[in-house]
Amino acid sequence: MIQSFDLIKEFGEPPQRILHGLNFKIETGEFVSISGKSGSGKSTLLYLISTLDLPTYGRVEIDGKDVAKMGVDEVHRLRNTQIGFIFQFHYLLPELTTLENVLLPARNLGIMDQKENRALELLDSFGILDQAHKYPGQMSGGQTQRVAIARALIMDPKYIFADEPTGNLDTENGERVMNILKRANEELGTTICMVTHDPDFAATAKREILLVDGRIDEIIKEPELRQP
Ligand SMILES: Nc1ncnc2c1ncn2[C@@H]1O[C@H](COP(=O)(O)OP(=O)(O)O)[C@@H](O)[C@H]1O
Ligand SMILES: [Mg+2]
Repeated sequence: MIQSFDLIKEFGEPPQRILHGLNFKIETGEFVSISGKSGSGKSTLLYLISTLDLPTYGRVEIDGKDVAKMGVDEVHRLRNTQIGFIFQFHYLLPELTTLENVLLPARNLGIMDQKENRALELLDSFGILDQAHKYPGQMSGGQTQRVAIARALIMDPKYIFADEPTGNLDTENGERVMNILKRANEELGTTICMVTHDPDFAATAKREILLVDGRIDEIIKEPELRQP
């Protein structure tokens, strides 16, 4: 579970307040979207709840532990084993093949051999098994984004944080990426926090945290989850 307590983020001098004291919870196994207009603070919030940045005031707890109080080693271990990141641009290494890119997190932990079958299985289920030995430069944007998702899932992380994962894709590939994330949530139980400014994709999540100017405007639930 991820919980934020009076989360405030400021940048610059004099400090400019970007997030204005946010309180919310993301339960394990949830699929939550963070939506809002460009500049509303979505990426800033995602970085805070995913250990990539620290708040100016307030705190973020991941599974009951304050991220700001974790040691460097503890944060690295958490990121390597429990968190998968997906960004708008794939950040695959150009000199590595698809399979090598997907296996990179496992290689860093010295368990590449054990994970090879899982990597091939993920590529197969994403329809890109035939791309296993291609390089990023030889594939389309939709294919490289699916490779990036396979890499994010290779360690079977508890959490996936995605920042505009469909932002660089056409509608068909965007929907494909959404379906993959939905399946990871439903079949593997992966907790997914996805930033998007696309209202249709935001509504795909079971819960939508809508930001307006760094404040939570509304938390919208799927109809079946709404209280009567
Ligand atoms: N590192 C930074 N330094 C200064 N200002 C920043 C920084 N990161 C984000 N901001 C500002 O915070 C606001 C929200 O940015 P961001 O979280 O990227 O919005 P979104 O992802 O919703 O488009 C913007 O006004 C942006 O310029
Ligand atoms: Mg952003």
